[in-house]
Amino acid sequence: MVVAMGFGRLLMQLVLVGVLVAPAAAQDDRPNCPQRCGNVSIPYPFGIKGCCRNEDFLITCKKIDSNSPQPQPFLGNTGIEVTNINITLGELQINNNVSKYCYNSDYSSTRDYQTRFTRTLTLSNFTVSRSRNKFTVVGCNSYAYLHGFGRKENYSTGCMSICDSPHNVYVKSCAGSGCCQIEIPDGLYSANVTAYRFNERENVSKFNPCTYAFIVEDGKFNFSSKYVENIPQDKFPMVLEWSIHDYTNQEASEGISSACKLNAFSYKPDSVPGYRCKCNEGYVGNPYLGCQDVNECEDPSLNKCVVSKNCVNTEGNYTCLCPKGYRRDGLRERGTGCTAEDKQSLKTKAIIGSSIAISLLFVIMACALCGIQRRKINELKQKNFRDNGGPVLRQLLSKIERSAEKAKIFTEDELKKATNNFNESEIVGRGGFGIVYKGTLNNKLVAIKKSRVMDHDQIEQFVNEVFVLSQIKHPNVVKLIGCCLETSVPLLVYEFITNKTLHHHIQNEVSGSCMPWKTRLKIAVETADALAHMHSDAPIHIIHRDVKSENILLNDDFQAKVSDFGVSRLVPLDQTQLPTLVQGTFGYIDPEYFHSGLLNEKSDVYSFGVVLLELLTGEKVLSSDRPDKDKSLAAFFISSMKEDRLFEILHERVRNEGNQEQIKGVAELARRCLRFKGVKRPTMKEVKMELEELMIGKCLHVEVRTDFEETEPLLGPPTNFCSTSVSIGPDSTKYQAALQLESGR
Ligand SMILES: *[C@@H]1O[C@H](CO)[C@@H](O)[C@H](O)[C@H]1NC(C)=O
Ligand SMILES: *[C@@H]1O[C@H](CO)[C@@H](O)[C@H](O)[C@H]1NC(C)=O
Ligand SMILES: *[C@@H]1O[C@H](CO)[C@@H](O)[C@H](O)[C@H]1NC(C)=O
Ligand SMILES: *[C@@H]1O[C@H](CO)[C@@H](O)[C@H](O)[C@H]1NC(C)=O
Ligand SMILES: *[C@@H]1O[C@H](CO)[C@@H](O)[C@H](O)[C@H]1NC(C)=O
Ligand SMILES: *[C@@H]1O[C@H](CO)[C@@H](O)[C@H](O)[C@H]1NC(C)=O
Ligand SMILES: *[C@@H]1O[C@H](CO)[C@@H](O)[C@H](O)[C@H]1NC(C)=O
Ligand SMILES: *[C@@H]1O[C@H](CO)[C@@H](O)[C@H](O)[C@H]1NC(C)=O
Ligand SMILES: *[C@@H]1O[C@H](CO)[C@@H](O)[C@H](O)[C@H]1NC(C)=O
Repeated sequence: MVVAMGFGRLLMQLVLVGVLVAPAAAQDDRPNCPQRCGNVSIPYPFGIKGCCRNEDFLITCKKIDSNSPQPQPFLGNTGIEVTNINITLGELQINNNVSKYCYNSDYSSTRDYQTRFTRTLTLSNFTVSRSRNKFTVVGCNSYAYLHGFGRKENYSTGCMSICDSPHNVYVKSCAGSGCCQIEIPDGLYSANVTAYRFNERENVSKFNPCTYAFIVEDGKFNFSSKYVENIPQDKFPMVLEWSIHDYTNQEASEGISSACKLNAFSYKPDSVPGYRCKCNEGYVGNPYLGCQDVNECEDPSLNKCVVSKNCVNTEGNYTCLCPKGYRRDGLRERGTGCTAEDKQSLKTKAIIGSSIAISLLFVIMACALCGIQRRKINELKQKNFRDNGGPVLRQLLSKIERSAEKAKIFTEDELKKATNNFNESEIVGRGGFGIVYKGTLNNKLVAIKKSRVMDHDQIEQFVNEVFVLSQIKHPNVVKLIGCCLETSVPLLVYEFITNKTLHHHIQNEVSGSCMPWKTRLKIAVETADALAHMHSDAPIHIIHRDVKSENILLNDDFQAKVSDFGVSRLVPLDQTQLPTLVQGTFGYIDPEYFHSGLLNEKSDVYSFGVVLLELLTGEKVLSSDRPDKDKSLAAFFISSMKEDRLFEILHERVRNEGNQEQIKGVAELARRCLRFKGVKRPTMKEVKMELEELMIGKCLHVEVRTDFEETEPLLGPPTNFCSTSVSIGPDSTKYQAALQLESGR
């Protein structure tokens, strides 16, 4: 009887194995199709001529010169060297050349056009991975542009690095002194990387002769201060994404993805067009050739059978058998295991009893381990809290009596709960600075900012800043609610502003054309008001340092809210200028501050001037579509004013709706904000007052200009901006006040 049963089982196993396991799926065994080139494996759809899926995936395998030991793979017929192909991730690693521009004593005489070097990378059917690469610039007198060509949009971005001596190179990270690193935009299929040097600061060339700019795979470049002298590499790895996009319209409409072979399915990646293939669960291999069943029984970690040797592989899965005399599904964990038939039930009970005892023991041990783990985590949190100035902040806060005004100190757990454990889906913003999450705290929406790095030498200043910013109550400043100091880099919690950034509204064609001139002017006034308040009324004067349309948020009524005082530094009242590391955003940065490194309030005035230009023209702040000398909006505006073409460069909506005097007034004000010399720019308070007057439309501002700088354009003879109705009379007191202000500078 027993023998018969055993035989039956054996038979069944044989049947299972024989019938359910299909023959192994296709291998790439076409003759004359090499699987490797040098030591890089070349899986289908990639391949040499006649072996690849189509021209997109063509790999040329050749020796660069006759003495190289082995051939190397290149993309198509280009010189782009391939170093790894990943079928599972749809990625391709290449070696990309560094853009290197070196000092040469001749160019100072020929100026500008010689001070740069461009490298172009053209990929057409591949995309530069946004998440896996970083744009990097190394040097001490250096900046570089990345002009990216995307399928939907073109982008320009820049990064700059300044240092005065080898000693003030910041070695801990690429934070702008010696090395600068930023994220790159999505969806680029081609990119120009241009390395530049400033010709005014050539003394730096003694220790830093060259600028190096390149796109590099994240983590594959560790900055070291000696790279300022020379980078030993002339190429760096970079990651591209690929997909199948040769389907016909019919295929697309029917949802057919013919590239995915046996036991594979297709999916749509979010970063590139087309589709990719993946093996079904329980299968492995190359989905573009066909996937093979995994034999889960060979590796005990892949199956959950109570007794490993009773595992039987099936197509795409496995089943577990029970030893003779036992039955049920034979699975550990959620399964029912194997239970003995009647005769042995006693024995089973004993087994169950002892297994319960053993399980209990395990539970107790696990709890103990958990406790130790938890204590370790708590200790780390407390250490971070101390390192981040928690006790100092607590002491400062204890001096404030009304609790409504106090910054709150949140725990990490509270913020984790608010953001669903920092879930990807809660991300609302991402940039070189870090990541912004949306979250809910006490039923209120908040924005939580997680920075990338933190300079721990400046912790005291950071704590002060949190303390001061949290006390500022201004309708046009984004309120800082509190912070969390338990993480290695502190998290900042702000009120959540619903309607995106000003940048979004003026650069986005559709909604941009919808923003009326009146709203633009209102936003200008509100922003000016916020900055003026920060510059002079706040308990400690605060310079924003990074005024730009991306930092002006809007709520649903288009009320402006200035955000991101993250890089701002406090200015002690007895000091008007302080030397700092130059920080800010290209296109907005004050040229005087840039050259001298001395920061003052007028740097914000300059940047605000650029924002006014964006409101007037709707143009990009940096655009490669404009001629080289007009690449920056400020230069473009000044030269247009000089040629008396103001009304040609205005945004259509502004030109059609704005009243001429108002527009001229704002343009003239912007021009004054953009003066090279800070002292000649108006203060933020004056800017605010003038804008308010222009908005009300009263004929107050009659400026008799006598202070043209030589390099500045003339606007023609001094004008009375209210020429139609010269009714200065009733407002003469205000007019006097305005004149006094002008002369009182
Ligand atoms: C690949 O080949 C190069 C020489 O062409 C060699 O330097 C390198 O170590 C090889 N890499 C691996 C992983 O074998
Ligand atoms: C790239 O893909 C497009 C279709 O998206 C195709 O028309 C073009 O020929 C491809 N380029 C190359 C070099 O194969
Ligand atoms: C790098 O430079 C070499 C030679 O200067 C060139 O053949 C190759 O195409 C370049 N690589 C890339 C990715 O542009
Ligand atoms: C592709 O990526 C996966 C997941 O990161 C990794 O396990 C695999 O080894 C990679 N394959 C190659 C060829 O690099
Ligand atoms: C990007 O720039 C190129 C060259 O200037 C131009 O041909 C192309 O149309 C632009 N693409 C978009 C989406 O603006
Ligand atoms: C990018 O580089 C190519 C080739 O060097 C050049 O023709 C093109 O004008 C450049 N585009 C920009 C925006 O610099
Ligand atoms: C550059 O060096 C020269 C001589 O060492 C010095 O006279 C000059 O002031 C320096 N220029 C700057 C901008 O530091
Ligand atoms: C960079 O540093 C990290 C951590 O120190 C290390 O794991 C990595 O291998 C380094 N990368 C390179 C390219 O040196
Ligand atoms: C594979 O089999 C196990 C046990 O029989 C079962 O729990 C699991 O759901 C199966 N997986 C699939 C993908 O069918």
